[in-house]
Amino acid sequence: MNNEIEKVKKILVDFKQEHLLQFIDELSLANRKKLVNQISSINFTLVNELFRNSTVSITSKPFVERNITPINCDIIEEFSESKLMEYRKKGINAICEGRIASVTMAGGQGTRLGYNGPKGTFQIGPPIKKTLFQLQVEKLKNIHQECGKWVPWYIMTSNENHNDTIKYFSDNKYFGYSEKDILFFMQGMLPMVDFNGKVLLKEKDEIYFGPDGNGGIFLSLKKYGLLQDMNLRGVEWVFINGIDNALVKVADPVFIGYTTMLGKSSASKSVAKKSPDEAVGVFCLENGKPSIIEYTEIPETLTKEVNDDGQLLFGDANIIAHLFRLDDIVNIAEMGLPYHSAIKKASYIDKNGKKIVSQEPNAYKFESFIFDAFKYLNNMGILRVQREREFAPIKNSIGKDSPEAALEQLMLYPL
Ligand code: UD1
Repeated sequence: MNNEIEKVKKILVDFKQEHLLQFIDELSLANRKKLVNQISSINFTLVNELFRNSTVSITSKPFVERNITPINCDIIEEFSESKLMEYRKKGINAICEGRIASVTMAGGQGTRLGYNGPKGTFQIGPPIKKTLFQLQVEKLKNIHQECGKWVPWYIMTSNENHNDTIKYFSDNKYFGYSEKDILFFMQGMLPMVDFNGKVLLKEKDEIYFGPDGNGGIFLSLKKYGLLQDMNLRGVEWVFINGIDNALVKVADPVFIGYTTMLGKSSASKSVAKKSPDEAVGVFCLENGKPSIIEYTEIPETLTKEVNDDGQLLFGDANIIAHLFRLDDIVNIAEMGLPYHSAIKKASYIDKNGKKIVSQEPNAYKFESFIFDAFKYLNNMGILRVQREREFAPIKNSIGKDSPEAALEQLMLYPL
């Protein structure tokens, strides 16, 4: 153990992070091992670089330097019924032939909801009485019923909820889905740093890690061999969604048909933004290519700009329903994504070994965003769908984006 500690110490000295071993002598052997393993897993070159960028601006590139213009989307209501049927047929064919996989990003906990557990296990109240995972699995089961194919379903967890998520599925017998076609994988973690660039200790024996954002999906799929798994299964297209939208149309055949029949290389769904201050990313063109500006980064003036008809210029909201080609995902995993930083409150152990519960934001958290991958794609389609039928995010315990609001929508537009 001493050798390992010495090795880690050297690295920490090089990166001016020696404080992480400050309490090592107080720890049991098991806890020393735990801490040393955590430190060894950190890429300090990356962490230092992310910290340097954060002190310059919130994003890796100041907003004013970004070349952002409005984008035009295809609107689902403008397609004829027969066209939509044609898309649907094409999508179902692709699914039947095993060319489609589905990925649900469920790395988050239900903290904002006041729910202690994996967000996917949160249950919507009566009369629906179904969890977010259950709503999604039912949509995949419907597809199976229609074409006899179990769509391979990959679920991204984080180290906070991985075991609980697997247990939940196993306790519920995979809700009647094919067990071998549900695969779980964990997203990555990055340390949080204080305003001096020092990595924080959550406990004397524990680094303060945060999930590395939903853009971590590409690297994690690769790390767990799942891109290869998809390839072996003959998958060509991957539908990706978040866990929190109760109305998400998982592996939506119409969307798949729209993308493939129009010869798009990828696509993403939008809905009309409700109001300028809605907390959603919006679609735009960046250097002439489809892109999304996150709500945490868009200047307020831009959120309010309208065209001659009084419509929001940046009025297409991201609902996290993306369709990528598998070969593009392989490429994105190679190329990597930029990181964004956010300022958060983090309780930590100070140099006197005391736990400090911070009342003010005191730390940087680094995350990559899945939609930053759009820059690697060509000829992308953006399909604006009907908000009331396809977007009921569950984020807060009451009010906007709450379970109650989602329930109302689900009652109107059930599966
Ligand atoms: C997200 C979108 C935003 C969109 C909004 C719609 C991103 C970066 N932002 O914002 O553009 O308009 O949803 O509701 O996509 N997740 C992980 N691991 C992480 C972080 C997130 O798996 O480390 C998953 C969550 O479980 C969730 C999804 O990604 O399914 C969105 O994450 P969240 O942080 O809740 O995003 P929002 O800030 O609401």
